[in-house]
Amino acid sequence: MFNLILFGPPGSGKGTQSEKLIEKFGWIHLSTGDLLRKEIANATQLGLEAKAFIDKGQLVPDEVVIGMIGSALDANPNAKGFLFDGFPRTEAQAEALDALLAGKGSEITLVLALEVGEEELVARLLNRGLTSSRSDDRDENVIRKRLQEYHNKTAIVADYYAKFGKVARIKGEGTIDDIFQSLVAEIEAKQPA
Ligand code: AP5
Ligand code: MG
Repeated sequence: MFNLILFGPPGSGKGTQSEKLIEKFGWIHLSTGDLLRKEIANATQLGLEAKAFIDKGQLVPDEVVIGMIGSALDANPNAKGFLFDGFPRTEAQAEALDALLAGKGSEITLVLALEVGEEELVARLLNRGLTSSRSDDRDENVIRKRLQEYHNKTAIVADYYAKFGKVARIKGEGTIDDIFQSLVAEIEAKQPA
């Protein structure tokens, strides 16, 4: 199994590149942000609780997203690989993911970390906020809070995996296709095509 974490701050292109990667490699795409937005759209109890955090730009509690990922792993027993997008976002989530995968005799293969300058991130998200249905893209204060959460709680996740030599940092600015080629090159170096 190939288990990839596509890592990076809000707006760095995780969702955009995930779509292209799953099409090429046939993995299961697990985006906790997408899963949470689905819960909100379905007006579930979990969705209602998560929305309060998301609309403020805060992370939702670890146990909520860990539970969702555990269920998604169990629901796909024959997957040839998983692409984790927006998860793990705290050290506790990283440890929980490692334990879940170990329980299936597997582990994280590679972490690809997209690096994009802060003002470019804000510009991308504000731009998408003009047209998207995402409530957390409309207000610059919420966008800045998301970036602050990233620096305070999430950036250390890359350091956590770097200790195991699993992290490659990729420049996330430029054309979508050029960035995709850089990601593919790192993946194929781990898993010859
Ligand atoms: P989540 O849905 O994960 O959002 P995010 O990480 O804040 O980031 P985005 O999805 O906005 O950005 P992205 O990196 O996917 O970039 P994209 O490809 O969209 O999380 C939302 C919220 O849910 C969190 O704030 C939190 O509350 C909660 N949550 C989710 N997971 C959680 C977890 N594990 N733990 C706790 N809470 C959690 O691109 C962004 C824009 O840029 C797009 O408009 C795109 O078209 C454009 N773009 C992409 N690439 C380029 C490029 N190369 N050049 C120019 N523009 C580009
Ligand atoms: Mg995304």
